[in-house]
Amino acid sequence: MKPPMNKPLDIDQLTPLEARALHVQLVEQIAAHDIAYHQKDAPVISDAEYDALRQRFEAIEARFPELVGTGSLFGKVGAAPSEKFAKVQHRVPMLSLGNVFSDEDAAEFVERVRRFLGAGAQQDIAFTAEPKIDGLSCTLRYERGQLVQAATRGDGYEGEDVTANVRTIAEIPHILRGDFPENMEARGEIYMRRDDFAALNERQLEAGDKLFANPRNAAAGSLRQLDSSITAKRPLHFFAYAWGELSAPIADTQMGMIAAFHSWGLPTNSETVLCTSAKELIAHYRAIEESRAALPYDIDGVVYKVNEISLQQRLGFVSRSPRWAVAHKFPAQQAITLLRGIDIQVGRTGALTPVARLEPVTVGGVVVTNATLHNEDEIARKDVRIGDSVIVQRAGDVIPQIVAVKLDKRPADSQAYSFPHVCPACGSAAVREVDGKGEMDAVRRCTGGLVCPAQAVERLKHFASRNAFDIEGLGDRQIEFFHEKGLIKTPADIFTLELRDSDPASLVKIRNFEGFGETSVRNLFASIRSRRSVALNRFIFALGIRHVGETNARRLARHFESFEALRVVARAAGEEASEARAELKNIEGVGDVVAEALADFFAEPHNEQALDALLREVTPVPMEAVAAASPVSGKTIVFTGALERMTREEAKAMAERLGAKVAGSVSKKTDLVVAGPGAGSKLAKAETFGVEVISEDDWFVRVGAE
Ligand code: IVH
Repeated sequence: MKPPMNKPLDIDQLTPLEARALHVQLVEQIAAHDIAYHQKDAPVISDAEYDALRQRFEAIEARFPELVGTGSLFGKVGAAPSEKFAKVQHRVPMLSLGNVFSDEDAAEFVERVRRFLGAGAQQDIAFTAEPKIDGLSCTLRYERGQLVQAATRGDGYEGEDVTANVRTIAEIPHILRGDFPENMEARGEIYMRRDDFAALNERQLEAGDKLFANPRNAAAGSLRQLDSSITAKRPLHFFAYAWGELSAPIADTQMGMIAAFHSWGLPTNSETVLCTSAKELIAHYRAIEESRAALPYDIDGVVYKVNEISLQQRLGFVSRSPRWAVAHKFPAQQAITLLRGIDIQVGRTGALTPVARLEPVTVGGVVVTNATLHNEDEIARKDVRIGDSVIVQRAGDVIPQIVAVKLDKRPADSQAYSFPHVCPACGSAAVREVDGKGEMDAVRRCTGGLVCPAQAVERLKHFASRNAFDIEGLGDRQIEFFHEKGLIKTPADIFTLELRDSDPASLVKIRNFEGFGETSVRNLFASIRSRRSVALNRFIFALGIRHVGETNARRLARHFESFEALRVVARAAGEEASEARAELKNIEGVGDVVAEALADFFAEPHNEQALDALLREVTPVPMEAVAAASPVSGKTIVFTGALERMTREEAKAMAERLGAKVAGSVSKKTDLVVAGPGAGSKLAKAETFGVEVISEDDWFVRVGAE
């Protein structure tokens, strides 16, 4: 790589033409240095020289603003608007992985697996260790050996149909060879090699197109092209490492599955090894970490998986991640930059969150301009001040963080930061609540509730967001815009927008606003219309009730099956001692805190009004019955006494997987008690209530696991 410029030109003297040429050159150089530094671990220039390059780049853009965005380093991925892809419901959810960052936590994962399975000291449990490919996951469905559908992960339950694009990826077979099952879904990672990424960015630059920030973004942008002939020109690759629906069992182990994929012609990763202890796993992690730069593709950690598929099945899932696998991530990457300011954002529950505004800096190949400062106490603990030089850290997809302040660089006149006690959006007092134990909440909250416009906007954003109503074309920016124009104030307004807009008497027409054409307005209305019926769990989650995240929304949807049923019980749950409160608390995973939050939400007249208006526009539909075929689905089960074939935790997880609810105590509503030796009062109670009691062995027979 050549040094930046032999004779630096004076930016102030540049003609527009010279500026354009220099701008292009700098973009190219900076991108190349980023790659050299962050991906090849082989910087060619010193940090000071690199900073000088960036300063020149910024100075040019400051003097010639028309150049901003042309081959910009900060360019967004050229992703097509997703509304154009058809949705695909995953037959088996595509879940994610939990992360660990230290050797201790990796060892704790192994221990947790052993504990859950009740493994004795003599029993070896084998794990695979595979590189964690930094791309995007994709599922490939083969029927009778033919590739019939490919989909992205999406929210894990619903992805996008990218079949036409995936068919252009040379190494993905259209037809399998060998002895494959009738139907089979192979899952894995689509990625771009580093050298291909650099070459692609060079071509983008020449064509005056946007640059991709890293190989993962380039792979994602390439796959999500509406025109598959563009994808065909992008060098994409694939590794198979997991599976969805299988019409017949294929292998007993993870290793066996990978071998099967390979034998059918699917690419698999050859760096995968088998280990039987945390020590071996960690040793392999170290080895991969060392050889990381020599691999032709980016990896961001090592994935450990229990090898035996029967054990994977026993371990099951917690929320969105398997108990039988974990990602051991590589350490975060860091950089030093200047803290220009601290903004206070107001979330949908009124939480005041400080956000650091930073002098842009490249951390691990991505330009970072904002970082989280968590809360008031964190700022005080680290004594972070505006004007400080700070260490910024980025790990995986998490929001960048400020790790520490470089005190030696602190300006002499700096002042300690004082956190505001009023909401910056509505001026209401912002307070820190004290809980029942007298402990002060770490979060300061705006007390403005329904009058606070920031909370209203955040609630609307949440309502329309991907895992909630998922309204295409109604992203954060559009919500802010419509809210500011007074067109959307409550969720129901989203659904009346079209009618109001088409009213001949209405003076404001959305299509006349800047940035909205006829077509985009038509598309927006169509996507809003398509969400007039929505799965009950999404509906509940969209309401943004405190402590009701996606998992609890699913639990509630499964338990109540209709919104009205939930509403009746939650309305009656105001009293702590009420039967309704007890019913809520008895739902697995819904404790005191959630039950109280539900009662509070439904006790608020404004919420009730907003709900009535919304329900006039929208119909929540029951969630697809989970494991409807299971003989225990919908039943309430109590395990008691000593269990000999599985641990207590496993029993509970197994019952839940089969669609049953597990309760801690026996009541009239209990359907089944599974009693082991030594069962006491619960067994007696079951007998008084006439509840069926079976043994642990009977349980396995009942659920067909024998
Ligand atoms: S297994 C149910 N194995 O990492 C578990 N994932 O952070 C399914 N990934 O969504 C995932 N390499 O996109 C698995 N060898 C590997 C992987 C891998 C990369 C990605 C995948 C997943 C994400 C979770």
